Amino acid sequence: MPMVRITDVRKAYASGLEALKGASLDIHEGEILALLGPNGAGKTTLISTICGITQPTSGTITVGGHDVVTDYRGARSLVGLVPQEINLEPFERVINTVRFSRGLFGKPKDDALLERILRQLSLWDKKDNRIMELSGGMKRRVLIAKALAHEPRVLFLDEPTAGVDVELRRDMWEIVAGLKKAGVTIILTTHYIEEAEAIADRIAVINKGEILLVEEKTALMTRLGQKELRIELHEPVDALPAALADRGLRIEEGGQVLVYTYDTAQERTGIATLIREVSEAGLVLRDLQTRQNSLEDIFVGLVSKQEDAA
Ligand SMILES: Nc1ncnc2c1ncn2[C@@H]1O[C@H](COP(=O)(O)OP(=O)(O)OP(=O)(O)O)[C@@H](O)[C@H]1O
Ligand SMILES: [Mg+2]
Repeated sequence: MPMVRITDVRKAYASGLEALKGASLDIHEGEILALLGPNGAGKTTLISTICGITQPTSGTITVGGHDVVTDYRGARSLVGLVPQEINLEPFERVINTVRFSRGLFGKPKDDALLERILRQLSLWDKKDNRIMELSGGMKRRVLIAKALAHEPRVLFLDEPTAGVDVELRRDMWEIVAGLKKAGVTIILTTHYIEEAEAIADRIAVINKGEILLVEEKTALMTRLGQKELRIELHEPVDALPAALADRGLRIEEGGQVLVYTYDTAQERTGIATLIREVSEAGLVLRDLQTRQNSLEDIFVGLVSKQEDAA
């Protein structure tokens, strides 16, 4: 039995908009699943229906075997959610907010745990501050502390790193890694492919309310892992030298940059040879950059493949 089982879930909002169009997905205990997709794809809607914040129009969802509609309490007690939107009581103090969250789930008082969580999130010295006195990034940390306070078995992080600094991002991934070690199942949404790449076991791609793909990260990365080498030249060129004509290079930025696309899965990427050939052709290099394909590139590839198949 998977930790979360989503079966043919549809969600139409009152406006008539169908945000989920028959989504099915199994999430295994202890895995980290990254949910990727553009704005409006249905990520938050999917998470909200799993957490029981909104009800599916049709289809079923279970968490730990508990149906999220008919056995709301059973499902809810396993779940922690770090929401995309900051929804905190401005006059409440940090420590009380976090304490309350634990109490809400019927967990016994455990101030040592709360201290550990707040310290981990560099919030301990703010514990007596009112929420309104915190910066945006600190409020996001409070949201995380709240979700962790009741020791969820399944943790949802909806865009946890949107608008946060490098340090919090690092802290957060450390915490996520620690939770995974403790056996917590983690579902996160992000627009940063590097982030998903760094931390996820599996990646699901969602677009227009449909789950287009669910795959082991390593398999996905090798399949879609195209990288670009950007060669900046000292002097711009009008055309490629004849010696480089069949190397599949692209000229960009008014001839200042040569772009070479290669597959990271290949044993021989051909980069070393290419750089030598560029020099031999008399071009002087000014700078080199490599760029991993963005989520958008991967996404466009997936969507167009889907359309080709249709
Ligand atoms: N409460 C609501 N009422 C009506 N429509 C909604 C509601 N919430 C979301 N939608 C619509 O449902 C669709 C999916 O929205 P959702 O918030 O799930 O997307 P998302 O993938 O989380 O996007 P983002 O990356 O921007 O957070 C969008 O078209 C959105 O406008
Ligand atoms: Mg969202």
